[in-house]
Amino acid sequence: MISHIRLAERIRSGIGSVQPRIALVLGSGLSTVADIIEQPRIFAYDELEGFGRSTVPGHTGRLLIGNINGIGVACMQGRHHAYEGHPPAALALPIRCLNALGCHTVILTNAAGSLRTDLQAGELLVISDHINWAGVNPLMGPNDESIGPRFVDMGDAWCAELRGRFHRVAREEAIELKEGVYLMAPGPNFETPAEVRAMAILGGDAVGMSTVPECLVARHCGMRVLGLSLISNLGAGLADEQKLDHEGTLAAGADASSRVARLLNAFLQTSNRDSLNF
Ligand code: HPA
Repeated sequence: MISHIRLAERIRSGIGSVQPRIALVLGSGLSTVADIIEQPRIFAYDELEGFGRSTVPGHTGRLLIGNINGIGVACMQGRHHAYEGHPPAALALPIRCLNALGCHTVILTNAAGSLRTDLQAGELLVISDHINWAGVNPLMGPNDESIGPRFVDMGDAWCAELRGRFHRVAREEAIELKEGVYLMAPGPNFETPAEVRAMAILGGDAVGMSTVPECLVARHCGMRVLGLSLISNLGAGLADEQKLDHEGTLAAGADASSRVARLLNAFLQTSNRDSLNF
């Protein structure tokens, strides 16, 4: 497999003077958030060996590089999931590549089910912490010390400073934002009602099938991580009448896309203003 460094060099040769500083991963239904990138250079994942091809509807499979409010952004429109059958280690390459390209921060977004009845469909949740219940870890296997340490401290995995700033921006934009713990389930099935009850007892607030592997890879190579979940549904068994399917997840994402885009736009503007080395 191609190395993340070689792939980053190849991408750099195709993006002119744009210097990506922030990586952005768009989850299910949130693809159109990428519309806020000014005149992006677009790479289909097919062109980028190692980014692979997403098999999930709603995951476009493109990397867009350009500026938002004067900040260089590398945006993954679609991601790979462990349940698609990718070996865990293969999930590491895109994030490492974006880090090698100059991104020191990654914003991970996803659609998730709620594990609490006071967290309703359509709400946005900043990820304060996570529980890896999927048994998937892209850091397993031989460790490359030139990328990061064998044993990674996850005590501050979800950057408190970025979360605080995100909340401030949301208040200024009058967008309601909750905060909570994201629990990763392996998928691809939605959970049973008993699993949803167990996950809530464990301390989860939202459940989804992605994001945690990317956070692990990003922390391993020293990137700061911010996470945003769009609650697309209540977890199984929490609503009286609810049938869970991927179409519902995509529709909820489409509904929330403009709100998420507005938040990210304002967040990047503030980051620029605060000159926090972005
Ligand atoms: N469970 C797991 N993943 C999800 C859900 C869910 O209820 N909704 C969107 N992604």
